[in-house]
This record gives sequence, C-alpha cells and structure tokens, in this order.
Amino acid sequence: MNLLFGALAWICIQLPAARADSIDLQYDRALRGVLANLQPSGAIVASPSRSEPNYFFDWMRDSSLTLKALIEVASDPSTPENLRSLLLPRIDRWIDWERSLQEHPELTGLGEPRYNLDGTTNTDPWGRPQNDGPALRAIAAIRVAELWLQSGRIQEVQKKLYEAALPARTLIKRDLEYVAHHWREESVDLWEEERGMHFYTLTAQKTALEKGASFAVLMNDPAAASFYRGQSLEIARTLQQFLDSGRGIVKYAISKNPGLPHKTSDLDIAVVLIAIQTFDGRFQVPVGATLNTLNALRDSFQSLYAVNSVRADEAGRPLGVALGRYPEDIYDGAGFGGGNPWFLSTLAAAEFYCDLARTSRGATKKDLQSLAEAQFNRVIRHLDANGSMSEQFSRENGYERGARDLTWSYVSYITAYRACRGQARRTARF
Ligand code: NOJ
Ligand code: NOJ
Repeated sequence: MNLLFGALAWICIQLPAARADSIDLQYDRALRGVLANLQPSGAIVASPSRSEPNYFFDWMRDSSLTLKALIEVASDPSTPENLRSLLLPRIDRWIDWERSLQEHPELTGLGEPRYNLDGTTNTDPWGRPQNDGPALRAIAAIRVAELWLQSGRIQEVQKKLYEAALPARTLIKRDLEYVAHHWREESVDLWEEERGMHFYTLTAQKTALEKGASFAVLMNDPAAASFYRGQSLEIARTLQQFLDSGRGIVKYAISKNPGLPHKTSDLDIAVVLIAIQTFDGRFQVPVGATLNTLNALRDSFQSLYAVNSVRADEAGRPLGVALGRYPEDIYDGAGFGGGNPWFLSTLAAAEFYCDLARTSRGATKKDLQSLAEAQFNRVIRHLDANGSMSEQFSRENGYERGARDLTWSYVSYITAYRACRGQARRTARF
C-alpha cells in the first residue's frame, strides 16, 4: 500500500502539472526563480548565465523592478509568514547594496546601467548613461521607505533613504536630485541600443519625481517637493510629443541620436512596460493610445513570429500572441540571428489588460480578463518542464532562448499574476 502510494506520489511529481493549475503553480516557481538570483551582498544578478550571453551583473533597471515586486509580495497580508520573513532582510540588504553603488563616481555616475557583483562599476564599453535606472530605483526605494515608516523605522529612513540636506547623502534624495537635474538629457534606452529621448525613461522619471514630491512633503522637505513636482509637470508636457495623433499610438522615442536605422515602425513594448510598471491603481500613461500601441504590436508579431500561427492548445484553450520587444528586433539573446518573443513582453500584455480591467466593468472587464488569460496560456506553453524562464523563446519552435533564469522574466510573471489573480494566491512553503 505504502509502495503504491509512494509510486503515485512520484508520478504526480514527475508529470507536468494539470494545465488548469499550472498558471498558479508557476507563480511559486517564479518566486523561487527570483530568490535564487538574490546574492548575499544584496545584489540581484540579472541571470546566472556567464557566457553567451554574460548577464552575470547587477543591472539597475532589472534590480529595481525586482525589488518593487518583492516589496509588493512582502507587504501583502496574504503572503505566508515564512516567505515574508525571508524577504524583509533581503530588502534591507538591497538598500545597503544600492547605497554603496551610489558612491561610485566613475563614468556616468548614477547613470551607469550595471555593476559587477563585487560592487565595482562595470566599465565595459556599453550604452550609457541609462537614465531610467535612478528613476526606477527611487520608485522602489520610496516603497521601501513607506514600509519602514509603517513599522516605526523612522530613524533608518532618515539615515539611509531620505534626508533633506544637500549635497544629497541618502539613497532616494540622491536619485531624485539626479533625475530632476538630468531628465532633459538624452540617454540610452532600456534595450541598451539607442540614445535619444524615450517614452519609457521619461515616464519613469516623471513618476519618480511625482512620488518623490509627495514623499518629500512627508519628510519635511517642502522646497524640494515643489521643485520635484515642477519638473514632473514639465516632463508630462514633454511626453505629449510622443503621441502620434494620426495613428493613435504612443511613439517609443523622439530625437534618436543615433537610432537603429532599421527600427522604423515607432512601436515598442517599452510603452506597455512602463504603463504597468508605474500603475498604482491609476495609469501614468495615456491609456487609449497605449492600448492602440499594444494592438499594433500584436498585429505585427502575429505575422512576424511563426509560433503565433498556433492559436489554441490541444485542449482548445486560446493562446495569446507571443510578443517581442519591437518588430524590427534582431537580437536573439546571444547574437543577431533575429528577434524572438520575450516572456516579459508577452506577460506585460496580460498585466496591462488586468490593470485596465480594474478600471472597467461588465463585458469589457470579462473580455480583458480573457485576453490576459490567453497571454498566460501562451507563456505556460513555452516554459521548460521545470518552469524555468529564460529571456526569450524561439519564434520558430517556441523553445527557450537567451539568458537562462532571467530574473526579470520571473518578476514579470509575479507582477502579471498578482495583477490578474488579485488575492486568490497559493500559499506555498519556502
Ligand atoms: C545586449 C543588450 O543588453 C541587448 O538589449 C541588446 O539588444 C544587445 N546587446 C545588442 O545591442
Ligand atoms: C538586455 C535587455 O535589453 C535589458 O533591458 C536588460 O536590462 C538586460 N538585458 C539585463 O536583463
């Protein structure tokens, strides 16, 4: 009897999880995937891959987005206590790590995109500065500060995160000062390819300064608050220039200098990414134009990537569109053999639909939820059997491509799942 039971249990573990359950199951795997990439120093490695490609660095963008997701998990009352007590000290360590990175004056200073894991600046030739970094870090660190204030850690907030004095010495203040004084400058986009003025970067900067202004008020720094708010409003005005009223879309960039000559469609999933990354119950982006942009991207990738010709799985469940970064992409994850769908792009669509659904009713809400579900089905279909998530999956056959165990892929699953499933989460043991 025991033997039989043992054998059954073994089979259950070995077999792929029943599909109905796998969207939930993958949430836990995604959490574990992120945890595995947190370093004892507080650094967060973008991927454990050390060659083809070498992603064994701490990227400010990836890390800040990761931290923001981890704070949401840690501050959610439905998160199991063991997971929370695992996350809270990791968050503290990340703050210390980032504070030490801010001390590096090399190259572009706070605009540096990535650091070596020993805490030194990575000085390889690279697209720099990438000015979305300090903005995303400020947004994440403000969430940490709120969490610390709630638990009475006021002095630590003042010592490490926000002090009014100039020149700035604390994490958030330094980032806000940098953002407020440098947003007018061109920088390299989130894909590390084009210098110019980017919707993604500017929206991150606008949001950081807006949230920074409210936080500055709380920290008794009213003069800075009005300066940050003023800059944020100016960025908002600049962002109007990205609206293409003819096509009804948001252009991902204006003034590219130099741009990629083949990137001509103006379409980039970056527009959808920053919509979900700055959504806090309210959108920081023009919603209709963002939806149009996503629809245009879906149309392009539907025909560009062969994998999208299969539109339902064996059980008849709809498969959403596997989305890449932008239609003209040729980066295959290690070289330039042609662009592929990315997990984080495909999931960004799901999360955007669910954010939209929160502000909609009735039939529209249902339609949006179905569209989101199809995006999840698509992702589940292309996962490795153990649920690990690389950066990309093949446009031809759907197998995983590019950097393995990409932290940001897992993070995109966590945030999309939370936006779509609300409180109905599994309580895994960690
Ligand atoms: C590596 C970058 O991280 C990736 O985004 C880019 O597409 C390639 N290099 C090519 O520049
Ligand atoms: C390449 C991506 O283009 C970039 O956005 C990302 O920050 C790095 N890889 C690290 O994941």
